Amino acid sequence: MAFVNENYCNLKESYLFADIAHKVSAYAAAHPDKKIIRLGIGDVTRPLAPCVVEAMTKAVAEMGVQETFRGYGPEQGYDFLHEALVKYYATFGVTLDSDEIFISDGAKSDCGNITDIFSNANTILVPDPVYPVYLDTNIMCGRKIIFMAGGPENDFLPMPDDNVKADVIYLCSPNNPTGAAYTKEQLEKWVAYALKNDAVILYDAAYEAFVADPAIPRSIFVIEDAKKCAIELCSMSKTCGFTGTRCGYTVVPKALVRKTADGRELQLNKMWLRRQTTKFNGVPYIVQRGAEAAYSPQGVKECRENIAYYQENARIMMEGFDKTGIKYYGGVHSPYIWLQCPNGMTSWEFFDFLLEKLQIVGTPGAGFGAKGEGYFRLTAFGSRENTIEAMERIVNGLK
Ligand code: MLT
Repeated sequence: MAFVNENYCNLKESYLFADIAHKVSAYAAAHPDKKIIRLGIGDVTRPLAPCVVEAMTKAVAEMGVQETFRGYGPEQGYDFLHEALVKYYATFGVTLDSDEIFISDGAKSDCGNITDIFSNANTILVPDPVYPVYLDTNIMCGRKIIFMAGGPENDFLPMPDDNVKADVIYLCSPNNPTGAAYTKEQLEKWVAYALKNDAVILYDAAYEAFVADPAIPRSIFVIEDAKKCAIELCSMSKTCGFTGTRCGYTVVPKALVRKTADGRELQLNKMWLRRQTTKFNGVPYIVQRGAEAAYSPQGVKECRENIAYYQENARIMMEGFDKTGIKYYGGVHSPYIWLQCPNGMTSWEFFDFLLEKLQIVGTPGAGFGAKGEGYFRLTAFGSRENTIEAMERIVNGLK
């Protein structure tokens, strides 16, 4: 008899964004005449940067020629991409070795897969609200999960509490969904807590490129000694428009060492390499050439133009919400506007209202955790035209 993983019984029936996609499809099928504006999942709409397309086109041609054809690549990524990332990190003051960077098909996969190298005996500390993958993947492992609340009282930035004992801590900065970003001083406190407790911080920097203030860290590794207690997960989805192209990376410093329950010391970098070489066969060469181009100085310049476009969308949205009197957060260091649902609506009630009355799709705050109830997330990744139209509908519809 094959028994299945009973921890799955503790999950919500479907993943947040799958659930929303299902509801929206049903509505669209029943109302084919309505123009739906999708500002739910954080999916980009700007095309890939020209230098990325050029590099990928060249790589496709190489794959069609005997002399330059490539089969399996290194599971942890090609050195040319590691080198590009080492240089990219240097631009914000972080020194990495190439073999501390592991290329993957995206931060979502790595967020889930990284659970492999930690014991199920750990207590996991998860912000609430936050990207639901951290919670769901640890529920799947049957781990003890505790939460730290983010709300207006702490600017949606929970801080360490010496009375709380956590072994693995997830931080997401700028935060998905709230857009709140930790300052250097706040991250120093988290690093101090992790070092004191021999904990490990899993730092999700997927939205680093949206940080609008140079004083706010774009990597946890700007903090002294963070390499002794943190792993950084990052995505090219939002930075370089790779949601469909699929590429991300995880930084596991060689200085990060922890013990097994019976006291044997292991280097997490080696564990992750062992995990990836066993369970993963690498990202396609063509995609990695595109990624290399995206992190070149020209690529960064071109990708920044797309980010500026989304930042302008966020500004338009905030300007719209200013007219409604609705309280909102985020939008400055983040492509998300996190707003309070009007008229005491729950977040799913507001979801239904927006979809049925205004044909706008957003993401209910409750999908990001219990503390997200009463809030709602809209993405600035839409087209300019749709963003303007959505805000007109909202401003008029909420009068
Ligand atoms: C989101 O909308 O929160 C993200 O796009 C989801 C993801 O990155 O997987």
